[in-house]
Amino acid sequence: MNVLLPADQIQARIRELGAEIERDYPAGEEIHLVGVLKGGFMFMADLVRAMSARVTLDFIAVSSYQRSTRSSGEVRMLKDLDSGLEGRHVIIVEDIVDTGLTLTYLQDILRARSPRTLRTACLLSKPSRRQVEVRVEYIGFTIEDKFVVGYGLDYAEKYRNLADIAVLDGE
Ligand code: IMP
Ligand code: MG
Repeated sequence: MNVLLPADQIQARIRELGAEIERDYPAGEEIHLVGVLKGGFMFMADLVRAMSARVTLDFIAVSSYQRSTRSSGEVRMLKDLDSGLEGRHVIIVEDIVDTGLTLTYLQDILRARSPRTLRTACLLSKPSRRQVEVRVEYIGFTIEDKFVVGYGLDYAEKYRNLADIAVLDGE
């Protein structure tokens, strides 16, 4: 495995993103982060610690990849949110935007719940793989079309625990 983004570089970028998000919302207003399980869990954990006490959070779980490096294009809801979104400033927190299908699905279903604002933060983006245009306001790193693991991202459920982001062998 080759390290693409070492842990310290990821942490530095997330501190910048946290500060940028804080600046973009009116002072004192609550920001509700919706983490996408499982891939987004580590990004979520570090992003909320880079932000102030006005943050609340929840998790949603969807499945789009079936134990392979190819997207089936099909998105299934595995776990819904615990609380409603009406009138809230909501930010979807996701590990990576690849084809864009998962985020398009998530944005559509969350927008239907009438949040006051809805934005998206992705740690990684692979623009060359996009199948649908999807709006992502906060992007950590833009990367090439390589399958990456670590820092929440898996291959067949492995490597999520790595602190670095690495390119899988053979890619
Ligand atoms: P999309 O629907 O094609 O944009 O795919 C988004 C989901 O695919 C992400 O939430 C990841 O779970 C998974 N994914 C896409 N690219 C990678 C990768 O390089 N490594 C690990 N998972 C990936
Ligand atoms: Mg994911």
